[in-house]
Amino acid sequence: MTAASPRELADLALVTARAAAELVRERARGHVTVAATKSSDVDVVTEADRASEALIRAHLSAARPGDGFLGEEGDDVPSSTGVRWIVDPIDGTVNFLYGIPQYAVSIAAEVDGVVVAGVVLDVARDAAYVGHLAGEDHPASVTRDGEAIAVRGPVPMALRLVATGFSYDRRIRGLQAEAVTRLLPQVRDVRRLGSCALDLCLVADGRMDAYVEEGVNLWDHAAAGLIARLAGARTVVATGIGGLDLMICAPAHGFDEVFRVVRAVGFSPDSGE
Ligand code: IPD
Ligand code: CA
Ligand code: CA
Repeated sequence: MTAASPRELADLALVTARAAAELVRERARGHVTVAATKSSDVDVVTEADRASEALIRAHLSAARPGDGFLGEEGDDVPSSTGVRWIVDPIDGTVNFLYGIPQYAVSIAAEVDGVVVAGVVLDVARDAAYVGHLAGEDHPASVTRDGEAIAVRGPVPMALRLVATGFSYDRRIRGLQAEAVTRLLPQVRDVRRLGSCALDLCLVADGRMDAYVEEGVNLWDHAAAGLIARLAGARTVVATGIGGLDLMICAPAHGFDEVFRVVRAVGFSPDSGE
């Protein structure tokens, strides 16, 4: 199997994400229960997470045999084509469990270690965020339901709306809460919406001024991080105060200031304070 263009990989990811989103929507109409817990007692998985990932794996491997796979709910599959799919079958599982309409299917395509295409499908709103890099015969593109998107314009730190999230690890939550306490007086407000992928897409389409969270995994942000960068954001994955990956995303024009404040308030260990 030869590597397809970024646009072709995005097209395949979109068709696959739509099918998975339909499955998740169908499951949401029934009675959703916890199937198992993972890293902690509040880190849950439902049957719908597993079914969504199985569907995505089946679709992608039928279309492109030999591609690698990194999915939250299943075993890693090595790639023999140079292409690897990075998948979160439901990002925002706790929202899904509680019937809060803020969760997504996230599929990214990586070629030789670089994410070249990403789709985040907002299940409840049936909205599709799609981004891909330029290929030999097409330019880069980033859209929400086919319309080009871009980050918000410049805004002073005190007027920034900042999305964040809290780890499933209770020890790290305490540290995150302390950092948020110091952040709050410096910004407009914070939001904890419960889906890393959708938080990043909100930065991408100009409805959030920044995003910061420790404890995220590659499957949470691979697709949405590309979408945000293509829309004019910068993303950095640093080490957080609890020792886990700390993701920071903000429009490129104000990124440095956000990064400085995030460090100063104690999201990362090298704040110097
Ligand atoms: C979680 C969500 C949540 C974030 C967690 C993620 P999951 O993903 O993105 O917003 O705070 O860090 O693990 O478990 O719902 O796929
Ligand atoms: Ca996730
Ligand atoms: Ca998940």
